[in-house]
Amino acid sequence: MNTNQTATYEELRATPRAAGTERAQPDLHQQAREVQPFNKITKMPIALDEAVCVSSVQALNQVLADTMILRDLYKKHHWQVSGATFYQLHLLFDKHYGEQSELIDAIAERIQLLGGISIAMGIDAAEVSIIPRPPRGREEAPVQVSRLLEAHEFALRAARTAARQAAQSGDDGTNDLLVSQVIRTNELQVWFLAEHLVNIPMAKAE
Ligand SMILES: [Fe+2]
Repeated sequence: MNTNQTATYEELRATPRAAGTERAQPDLHQQAREVQPFNKITKMPIALDEAVCVSSVQALNQVLADTMILRDLYKKHHWQVSGATFYQLHLLFDKHYGEQSELIDAIAERIQLLGGISIAMGIDAAEVSIIPRPPRGREEAPVQVSRLLEAHEFALRAARTAARQAAQSGDDGTNDLLVSQVIRTNELQVWFLAEHLVNIPMAKAE
């Protein structure tokens, strides 16, 4: 101990934890069995057959993975856009990013309430999604918009398939989420993007 009775960091590090702080010490590096493995369903009291929940969860996880990749593609392009339309595309891409983020939360929480487990990590979404991986580098704005449109169509195809399946199996909540939120939001965003690829004169009509 030094002369003014205040422990230095070196002294604290060398002292065993028997200095009266045992109860305040966080119990670190804990591990245990998972509460629920991925791909296993818990039966929820929502008046839906387990088989219906299983198929809805699987379909929703595909839509979720595609939506997570689409969300990240928007942020990539928000950061990397350049050119004369920088300002409007920078803002538009971030607006759509925010709307996709809201969809992701709604889809993931629907999976959980059906008794399933939602994909959560980007690396898992990348394995499940069929949206082509973009290059890490920067691309021209028209290429960015084309790439986003292609990603939207993958997401919409998965959402339409899942919506039809949910309607046929009587899972009205899943069908409503997919039609009212996922499909309608994606369709609207596609319109806002696609109009940027129409080659209209800027200053003088042809
Ligand atoms: Fe930003």
